Amino acid sequence: MSASSQEQRKAFYLTTPIYYVNDIPHIGHAYTTIAADVLSRYKRMTGYDVFFLTGTDEHGQKIQQTAVAKGITPLELADRTVVNFKELWKVLGISNDDFIRTTEDRHCRTVQAIFKKLLDQGDIYKGAYEGWYCVPCETYVPESSMGEEKTCPDCRRPLQMMKEESYFFRASKYVDQLLEYYEKNLRAVMPKSRYNEIVSFLKGGVRDQSISRTTLKWGIPVPGDDAHVVYVWFDALINYVTACGYLDDREKFARYWPAAHHLVGKDIIRFHCVIWPIMLLALGVNPPVTVFAHGWWTVEGEKMSKSTGNVVDPFEMVDRYGRDPFRYFLLREVPFGNDGDFSEAALAGRINSDLANDLGNLLNRTLQMIDNFSGGRVPGAGRSGPLEKEIEALAGKTLADAEEKISSFAFDEALKSIWVFISRGNRYIDETMPWKLAKEGKTEELLPVLHTLYEILSLSALLLAPFIPDTAVRIREQLGLGEEPGGLSLLGYKWGQTAGGQKVRKGAVLFPRIDLEAWKKEKDAREGRGKVPPAAPQEEEPLLHEETVEIDSFRSVELRVAQILEVQEIPRSKKLYKLTVDLGYEKRTIVSGIKEFFTPEELTGKKIVVVVNLKPAKLCGVESNGMLLAAGDGKKTALSLLTPDRDIPLGSRVS
Ligand code: MSP
Repeated sequence: MSASSQEQRKAFYLTTPIYYVNDIPHIGHAYTTIAADVLSRYKRMTGYDVFFLTGTDEHGQKIQQTAVAKGITPLELADRTVVNFKELWKVLGISNDDFIRTTEDRHCRTVQAIFKKLLDQGDIYKGAYEGWYCVPCETYVPESSMGEEKTCPDCRRPLQMMKEESYFFRASKYVDQLLEYYEKNLRAVMPKSRYNEIVSFLKGGVRDQSISRTTLKWGIPVPGDDAHVVYVWFDALINYVTACGYLDDREKFARYWPAAHHLVGKDIIRFHCVIWPIMLLALGVNPPVTVFAHGWWTVEGEKMSKSTGNVVDPFEMVDRYGRDPFRYFLLREVPFGNDGDFSEAALAGRINSDLANDLGNLLNRTLQMIDNFSGGRVPGAGRSGPLEKEIEALAGKTLADAEEKISSFAFDEALKSIWVFISRGNRYIDETMPWKLAKEGKTEELLPVLHTLYEILSLSALLLAPFIPDTAVRIREQLGLGEEPGGLSLLGYKWGQTAGGQKVRKGAVLFPRIDLEAWKKEKDAREGRGKVPPAAPQEEEPLLHEETVEIDSFRSVELRVAQILEVQEIPRSKKLYKLTVDLGYEKRTIVSGIKEFFTPEELTGKKIVVVVNLKPAKLCGVESNGMLLAAGDGKKTALSLLTPDRDIPLGSRVS
C-alpha cells in the first residue's frame, strides 16, 4: 500500500481490553476479541485503513501474587501466559495488526513520559493515601467490600488502617469538560444505557485518583521517584496510545487516534469512560470516538467461575465445534450490549439450524442444480421477473443493513438480516422448482433462477466473510471464485455482476449436521453424568499393603524435588502429558498419565516429587525419564500431586 492510497482511505482504530496474564484465556476474552475481529474485517472490506490492537496487561498486584504462588517471577509468568493468548488468537483467526504487552519498552517509556508531562503541568501531585489495608494480601480494601468487623474479603484476616505516600491524578479538574464532551458526542459511550449511567456518575463528581503504589514492586517506576510504581490501571489504559505512536510516531498517532474505538466488558467502563478520557483531556488529546461496553456471559445459567469449574475454554470449543461455528454463535446468540447465557446445546442447535440447514443447504442445492441443469457452469443473467426483482431489492436492503448494524455494533442484527436473505434463497428454490422447469424444458425460465441463486450465494459469502472467514472462502471456492488480490472487498460490489460461464466445484458439506442424541450421550459421558459403569474391581488398588520392605529397597529409589516448566499435549493421547521438569542440576522429559486430572496451566510452575532413577521408557513414542509422585483414591476418579510444603531448592533429595 502506498502512502498516498493510505491517505485516501479513512482510518479506523479498534482495540480490545488488554488481558491480565494471571489467568488462562476464557470465553469472555474470546468474545471481545472476536467482535473486534469482525468489525475490523468488515471495515477493511468497506475501504477503511484499519489498525486493530489487542494485547496483555502484565503489571500489578494480581500478577505479582500469582507469580509468587507459582514460585516464578512476574515476567516469567507473563512470558508463559502471553503464549496462550497469542495461540488463541491464531486458533480463532483473529486479524489483529499489533499485539502490545505492557512490559515492553515502548510502553514503559510512554507511561513515564505521560506521567512526567502531567506532573510538570501540575495535574499529578504528591499526597497521602489512607485506607483499610490487608497486609498478607498487600492490598487496600474499599469500605464497600470489607467483610464483617473490618476483615479482608479474600483472606478474612483483620484489616489495618494505613497511610502511605502516593501520587494523585487531578481527575476532579476535568469532570465538567468531559461532561461537555459527552453532551456533544452521543456515541462516545455505547449502548445508550451505559452512556446514561456514565453521565449520571460524572454528575456526582469524581475524586482525584491515587495512581502510584509504594507497597508493590511489580510495576513501571515513577520517573524520578523509584520508591513508587505506577498504579496498574493508569499504566494499562495508556497502552491504547502507546501502540498508535503517541510517543514514537506522531504521524501514526495523528492518523489513527482520532478514529479510536474501544470494545470493553461492562465491568470496566468507569476506567474507560471516566478515568481514561479525563487522562486524555489532561494531555490535550480528544477522548475516543466510542467506547462500547458489551455484556457478560453466564454458563448454563450460572456465573462462570474457577471454583464452580464451569469456565468455558475457547480452545476446547473450537476443537469440538470448529472456529467458525463458535465465532458465529457468540455474535448471533445475544445482542452485543446484553448479558447472555452460553450453552453447548444452544451452540449445537445453531449449527444444525442456521449453518447446516439454511446456509449449507442453499449452497448444496444450488450447486447440485447448476451441475444437473447447466453442465456445472453458471448461466448468464437472462430475463428478470418479479421474483428476481424482489430478491434484488432484498439484496440491496441486506447490504445496507449490514453496514448500519455492524457499524453500530449490532452484530446479531446484521446476522439476522443476512439470514433473512439466505432463507429467501431457499424459499425461492421451493417457489420456482427448477427441477420441474428442467423437466418441462423451460430453459428460459430455469437459467435465470440458477443465476439468481448464484448471486445470492456470492453476496452472502461476502457479507459473511467478517463473521465466518473460513466458510466464506470455502463457499467462494465451490462457487468457482478465486482469491481477491488485496483481500475481499465490498467496495464496487454490484448485484448481477456475474457474467456467467464460471465452473462451479461442488465440494464437501459445509457443516455436517450434529446428531443431537449421540452428541448428548457423548457430552453426558464427558461430564461424568448419566450412568457411570461400576468400577471394575480388578482396577482398584488395595487400600492397605500388608507386606513389608527393607529400608534399602526404599533407599534404592531416588526421589528429588523438581519443578514443571512446560506441559505439552501428546497427539492422540487422552491420558498422557509430556512434561519438561527442572531438577536444578538438569532438565528432563517425563511422560505422565495425569491429563484427565489437570490442565496444563494448573501444572505449569508446580513443584513436585520425581523418581529420577527409573529406567527410561517410551510412551506414545515419547521417551520418559522419570516418574512423578501422586496420590490417587484407588478408583481413578481423583488424583493429587505430591508437592513440598515449603520452599526448598530444586533437586533436593526426598527421603
Ligand atoms: N486488564 C484489564 C483490562 C485493562 S484494559 C486497559 C482486565 N482484564 S481481564 O483479563 O480481567 O478482563 C478482560 C475482559 O474480559 C473485560 O472486558 C471483561 O469484561 C471480560 N470478561 C471477563 N469475564 C467475562 C464474561 N464472563 N463474559 C464476557 N466478558 C467477560 O479487566
